[in-house]
Amino acid sequence: MNVCKVNCDASVFENEQLAGFGCIIRDSMGIWIQGCSVSIPLFSILCCELHAIWRGLVMAWDCECKEVICETDNLDVFLLVSRGATRMIRNDSDLLDKIKEMLQCNWTTTLVLIQRTANRAADLMAKTAVFNKQRLKQENISGSEREREMETGKGTVKAVALIVGDNNVKGTTHVSGRITGLSPGLHGFHIHALGDTTNGCNSTGPHFNPLNKHHGAPADHHRHAGDLGNILAGPDGVAEISITDSQIPLSGVHSILGRAVVVHADPDDLGRGGHELSKTTGNAGARVGCGIIGLQSSV
Ligand code: CU
Ligand code: ZN
Repeated sequence: MNVCKVNCDASVFENEQLAGFGCIIRDSMGIWIQGCSVSIPLFSILCCELHAIWRGLVMAWDCECKEVICETDNLDVFLLVSRGATRMIRNDSDLLDKIKEMLQCNWTTTLVLIQRTANRAADLMAKTAVFNKQRLKQENISGSEREREMETGKGTVKAVALIVGDNNVKGTTHVSGRITGLSPGLHGFHIHALGDTTNGCNSTGPHFNPLNKHHGAPADHHRHAGDLGNILAGPDGVAEISITDSQIPLSGVHSILGRAVVVHADPDDLGRGGHELSKTTGNAGARVGCGIIGLQSSV
């Protein structure tokens, strides 16, 4: 893609100790190419705005834009990045360096200061990130309660995904099942390395990763073998699962037999969230359910 426009904005809710940012990438026709809505720990407004711009530039670069117009409605950020103003606050300088590095890549970049009202879409995405995080925060409380219940064996979460392996289908395994008691929305869903639930789901180890790769999406070339992406729970808290995947065989050296399937409290960002945990766990939050994968009776 040649020309593209990036809109970035951040939103800070100091009372709730939450912040987020949104980025939108459009092509020269104004058609949306990509966007993100990311919640981050509470930093200064300036730092959050810098986060937004940095992410926006990284996304534009990944979209192979050759000429990018990056729009912000924050005067401080604009001055800081484009005019080299030196009003720095604590940790912002690292981020500023990263942004400057991005600007010096082999492309044409222009940072433009626009009216707040012209940046409304990015603003909405930033607020959405904050609201979602707020909601998840509330739900996490009940999530860990459920987890405790499960550890004591009287849980209502049935995290047993029925693993149906069809050895006639070469190289692929079909995972199907039904998980109840989840909060509505997306939940990270992975094969973890260990079939050990002595300390609840926490003892199932990291994502099953025999090839030593980064965390990713199921369709990515670079992913953990155990990265099955997200499952979607409806308003009733029920997720119906039907996944076919080529990296989770039931035999051979990379067999997932005896390992664990884990469902998380939060969505898996598929390695793209820009969070420090994105490249290892997808920042999918607490483990709210798990089950050990065993052979199913053929009868
Ligand atoms: Cu997991
Ligand atoms: Zn992973």
